[in-house]
Amino acid sequence: MLDKERIPKHVAIIMDGNGRWAKKRGQIRVKGHNEGMKALREIVKHSDILGVKYLTVYAFSTENWKRPVEEVTGIFKLLVKYVASELDELNKNNVQVHIIGDWSKVPEDAQESIKKAINTTANNTGLVFNIAINYGGRAEIIRACNNLIAEGIENITEEKFAEALYTANCPDPDLIIRTGGEYRLSNFLTWQSAYSELVVVDTYWPDFTPAEYEKAIEIFQGRNRRFGGL
Ligand code: FPP
Repeated sequence: MLDKERIPKHVAIIMDGNGRWAKKRGQIRVKGHNEGMKALREIVKHSDILGVKYLTVYAFSTENWKRPVEEVTGIFKLLVKYVASELDELNKNNVQVHIIGDWSKVPEDAQESIKKAINTTANNTGLVFNIAINYGGRAEIIRACNNLIAEGIENITEEKFAEALYTANCPDPDLIIRTGGEYRLSNFLTWQSAYSELVVVDTYWPDFTPAEYEKAIEIFQGRNRRFGGL
């Protein structure tokens, strides 16, 4: 049973398996991403219901540019569609949308949607919803180093370093869920994941339901987190 008193504060999700979901059905990969977008909608809602305070999802990595241009274009079109269809509801639910990653490189219309989502929800005080777009953990670390050097900082501490990351003001993720059955982090939250609990499920992302989400949180609650202590 899910313990409502011990809900992880920050959940991060690697939404993997969209392509395989589509292939299994003889459909194009973008169709899998489209269904993945619908799954995402439900998981955001459910995060709020459960009392998760921070939700971070991996939508597009710095490596995803290597995919065929139709797929890349398709994912950004979905982002535009997602903002158009979900922004009112996100705003009504007091969700704050943030983007982590270098979104200055994404197509113009997607940038416009991102700006709109950020600006519309900037004063909200509910769930912090971080969407990782053109995000890579290593690129984030290098960016933080360069920003700290540019500021002329002399004595870097872990706290100061964390503040130079995209996730400044967010606690580290307690739980990272990866769908699609693969046991790796794929350059996601490289610094922040140091003590995160990992739960991998075989389900492809489009089939990931709120019930499975609760199951993953139950697994998390069964873990003994020691943070290096005894
Ligand atoms: C990984 O599956 C998924 C992605 C690279 C894209 C994730 C995008 C969405 C869930 C929908 C878009 C939503 C927004 C907000 C942009 P994969 O393609 O690597 O799957 P595979 O491993 O089966 O090939």
